[in-house]
Amino acid sequence: MRAGTGLSYATKAEFYQELAAQCHALIDNESDPVANMANCAALVFNAVPRLNWAGFYLLKGGELVLGPFQGQPACVRIALGRGVCGTAAESHSTLRVADVTKFPGHIACDSVSRSEIVVPLLTGDSQLIGVLDVDSPELDRFDAEDEIGLSVLAKIIATKI
Ligand code: SME
Repeated sequence: MRAGTGLSYATKAEFYQELAAQCHALIDNESDPVANMANCAALVFNAVPRLNWAGFYLLKGGELVLGPFQGQPACVRIALGRGVCGTAAESHSTLRVADVTKFPGHIACDSVSRSEIVVPLLTGDSQLIGVLDVDSPELDRFDAEDEIGLSVLAKIIATKI
């Protein structure tokens, strides 16, 4: 795991517990959605190893629109049902893609991306807010523990945007 993040942990589960605590601390006392998403994107991008992109797409006018992120500039609008983000958003389910080149309709914003995980952001009554999109230059970068950890993070963030 990346040094210098201020996170101390022995296991991946502990790492994600610490990350969730940091995320909570960053946004708990702030009500501005853009500020909260910006800080969460920066936290994930800098703390989770081996990423090339981390950020948000938000549901606006029936499509996903780029929100705060870290990484290379990305495509601004994604239709529901398109690519990994649009599919995760439409189905309200997390998508963990081991090889993005094998995902039909994958949108290659950054050609370096090889695997990704997209977690829907839902309100308490299951309305779609948007998605958290995390990309890696490494094939099959994300496992079930990453999925659980990032899902916990997405739940925390969804309450503050
Ligand atoms: N990979 C996404 C597009 C967004 S970029 O990766 C930032 C997709 O296929 O949905």
